[in-house]
Amino acid sequence: MRVFLTRALPIDPKEVLGPGYDAIVFGEDRPPTRDEIALHARGARAIVSLVTDRIDATLLDRCNDLAIIAQMAVGFDNVDVDACRARNVMVTHTPDTLTESTAELAFGLMLAVARRFHEGETMVRAGAFRGWSPTMLLGTELDGKTLGVVGYGRIGRAIGRRAAAFGMRVIAAEREDQPFSPDGIATHAPLSRLLEESDFVTLHCPGSPMTRHLIGEAQLARMRPGAILINTSRGTVVDEAALVRALERGVIGGAGLDVYEDEPRVHPGLIGRSNVVLLPHLGSATLEARSRMACMALTDARRVCEGKPPLHLVPTW
Ligand code: DGY
Repeated sequence: MRVFLTRALPIDPKEVLGPGYDAIVFGEDRPPTRDEIALHARGARAIVSLVTDRIDATLLDRCNDLAIIAQMAVGFDNVDVDACRARNVMVTHTPDTLTESTAELAFGLMLAVARRFHEGETMVRAGAFRGWSPTMLLGTELDGKTLGVVGYGRIGRAIGRRAAAFGMRVIAAEREDQPFSPDGIATHAPLSRLLEESDFVTLHCPGSPMTRHLIGEAQLARMRPGAILINTSRGTVVDEAALVRALERGVIGGAGLDVYEDEPRVHPGLIGRSNVVLLPHLGSATLEARSRMACMALTDARRVCEGKPPLHLVPTW
């Protein structure tokens, strides 16, 4: 049974697939082109895909033997689920494998922007540190501040727990059709109020047509002048051009970004800004999370190849 993995994973696929499987791994450290996916997936029952692979109708029509797209990620906005369903190709993902890793990274970004890690590090490496100064690189404390969490699911709640331990007040906004279930940490608020009251705003909603540019010019204008925006969800949730304008005009105080609208391209207006910390989509980049993700995706690939129901169909299936 042939399974195509679009990149090498941190675990040996054979450990999960076991005997009887021919695991074809794309051999280069870059996303395969669509032609390369179609070529290697010929005859494959499963593709283990990543956020960097666009899986759509045109590609699926070139992979006739496919039974499952096992997406090794929580987000699956790169996969046309309707096109898969129409071709009887199941789509799975890897929920709750990266909750703590992503929450840790988002929290790290909050600290990094608030305490000006980037500027401090740049100064030290440039040999420009001349000794302690009472006024050098003054940042802002998290303690006593308000954190607004947009999307209070697993990762949002994991951030909430960390924020509470840092002495922050937490408010959370949820989709209107999503009931808010209290956790004793966050109070619920509509997005508009959350933006007005928060010193830090962190985004944890999935990338979808519904959340595209959820944070644009109007929303940024509602934020507090010194407020810091953190995005570890999907780049499309923020209108990047509007964010650059808001940073240039001092509408908000800074940003910590792990994701971009048109990855891996980063808006040039962000690159030179000292009040912005930029990471290369590292939310799930821990050995623990990536191993769990790989294991879960491969397990569902194997189950479907064996005619069993998968364990983690995407929620929009
Ligand atoms: C996901 O799982 O959606 C992440 O963005 C990949 O790290």
